[in-house]
Amino acid sequence: MTLLTPDRAGGRPSPGTDPAPGLAPLTTELGILFGGDYNPEQWDPAVWREDVRLMRQAGVNLVTVGVFSWSRYEPQPGVRDFAWMDEVLDLLHAHGIAVDLATPTASPPPWLGNLHPETLPVDADGVRLGWGSRNQFSPASRVYREHALAITRDLVERYAEHPAVRMWHVGNEFGQVCHGEESAVAFRGWLRERYGSLTALNEAWGTSVWSQHYGRWEEITPPRRAPYHLNPTQVLDFRRYSSDALRSLFREQRDLIREIDPVRPVTTNFMGFFALVDYWSWAEDLDVVADDAYPDPTDPHAASTSALTHDLMRSLGRGRPWVLMEQAAGAVSWRPHNLTKSPGRSRLESLQAVARGADAICFFQWRAATKGPERFHSAMLPHAGPETRAHQGVRRLGADLARLRPVVGSRVGARVAILFDWPSWWASQGEALPTDRLDALAQLRSWYRPLWEDGVAVDVARPGQDLSGYDVVLAPQLYLLTEPAADTLREHVARGGTLVLGPFGGVADESAHVRTGRFPALLRDVVGVSGEEWVSLPDDGAEVVWAAAAPGRPGSFRAEVLGELLRSEGAEVLASFRGGHLDGAPAITRHRRPGSGAAWYVGTVPPQDALADVLRQAIAEAGVEGAAPAVRLPGVEVVRRGDALFVLNHGRGTARVRVEDLLPGSSVPPRHPGSEVVDLLTGLPPAAGEVVLAADDAVVLIERNS
Ligand code: GAL
Repeated sequence: MTLLTPDRAGGRPSPGTDPAPGLAPLTTELGILFGGDYNPEQWDPAVWREDVRLMRQAGVNLVTVGVFSWSRYEPQPGVRDFAWMDEVLDLLHAHGIAVDLATPTASPPPWLGNLHPETLPVDADGVRLGWGSRNQFSPASRVYREHALAITRDLVERYAEHPAVRMWHVGNEFGQVCHGEESAVAFRGWLRERYGSLTALNEAWGTSVWSQHYGRWEEITPPRRAPYHLNPTQVLDFRRYSSDALRSLFREQRDLIREIDPVRPVTTNFMGFFALVDYWSWAEDLDVVADDAYPDPTDPHAASTSALTHDLMRSLGRGRPWVLMEQAAGAVSWRPHNLTKSPGRSRLESLQAVARGADAICFFQWRAATKGPERFHSAMLPHAGPETRAHQGVRRLGADLARLRPVVGSRVGARVAILFDWPSWWASQGEALPTDRLDALAQLRSWYRPLWEDGVAVDVARPGQDLSGYDVVLAPQLYLLTEPAADTLREHVARGGTLVLGPFGGVADESAHVRTGRFPALLRDVVGVSGEEWVSLPDDGAEVVWAAAAPGRPGSFRAEVLGELLRSEGAEVLASFRGGHLDGAPAITRHRRPGSGAAWYVGTVPPQDALADVLRQAIAEAGVEGAAPAVRLPGVEVVRRGDALFVLNHGRGTARVRVEDLLPGSSVPPRHPGSEVVDLLTGLPPAAGEVVLAADDAVVLIERNS
């Protein structure tokens, strides 16, 4: 089959994409990777044999092994038992199943905590956490690190040449924080690096407030339980330090792996918008970005929330294909009340990840556990065995993914970037702000949603990164904004790009000090509007009235959470507050100057429909369209990835879409002589020029030479 090169906008790679291979050798050989975590240490060898047989039948071609095997490999300090893993790897290899082999460092054996209590993490209350669960280590613990490296070295030396092993997986879901003594020492070292002197640290931390001046490094501790509000810069720096401490732990194991095996890719599993780790700072450290995705089935916006997270993963890898390392086939067991999902929904969620750049679809876990805390977590193979609805769904998915081989390695092109920054998020989660209701992540998701609904491709971008090549940049919540990051926004608009800046943006510098003067201090000339007060709104909000010719529906809306006392300095006022403290103040503005682009300012939290109106207009004025602009059906997601157009029905009812609306000019007569549109999942052209999608169903359309 020959794929035609698309000539539509959206088929080109996003700006800044990196052609480095990552997953490519493996996916070129195997197609889309499909499988899950496999924990053979929980089962008798007889079960392993059944496992590999059933894996083959389900189309599994990759499993992650050994994530929690440390106490099995090293039952007593220094003792090694790898014989069982030899057998597991040989067996998997004999059945053609590739292995993502994990370093087992996420859960040290009980003997480590028992012999070396200093390896255990301490919380902000000074409580040392115990073993009997998992993750019980302090990232700063020298003894933990030595033991982790020792077992990693032996593991990697033993298996680097094993033909089953195709990828390395370091630890699991890095996210540990420790406030103990060894962490205090490490934190001080980190602060010395950052500030060089106590004078600089005292200045950055604003220790002239509340008599906090530090005279000796030894006086500095991680933030711990204290009588009242903590120093916000100390808290912010501790979050930075904690992310860096985990990063150094990851890199230490990765470097050791690379020393022994310079060939196979090394990864670890991220957790979406996870609060404790700045994934931007880690992204370059991974050969392949991998993510664990557990959308909340009760979230009415789960589909767009997941799409955004997938876009983050693709963006972290600069456009390269990524791995969906874990997801649930049905219910998880770690929420208080665990709703399940149907096999159809599970399939749809998997296809959505592929649409957004994943080349590997994996689950936690292969076989449902019968013991331990996760015995009620769903799995690819349920307790009741293979003749179950869930497992048959898994098989169907395996077959579907095999048919998607033509999309492997292809890219998603985006002309819109949405900015997200961990330090700014951390700072905005701090204490003693005008409001604790301005949730940066919730803002990001609300701003993303109309774009998702319209099929507009979006990359997530790190403030300060090169934005050239994007037509539209959205900055929903950038409380903390550095000068270099502000410069990239200024340059973007000067180049003719569109910027939409949200409320409470550019308020603070990297030390979380408030910038003086009218705000947004660094971007006032760009947005053509400036403010003097942030105003938390009462519970029933505040009225905002659209100006004539503004993007919203006629009339007014009630803004929520926060408003700003703004005045225009050249921007058109599109909506203003009416009544109350902010009476007459601009709420939404647009600044257009000859020779440059448009800078929109949204100085409040509008309700979703009003926000969507603003963003849609900004995007339309910038000339950016969705993947299929004629298609706007509730719950129907349209994504172009390379030559393929994914249409996914997240809605509850059947959706019908004309092929002509999805791929204009592709029906009769064909756009290219001899070409036809087919659905890769069925291999068939859509009947009667129409795609009919039941709830949870999807098509993956391509044009091919017939
Ligand atoms: C992940 C974790 C897995 C498993 C899974 C259950 O966070 O990496 O080991 O616990 O959750 O949903």
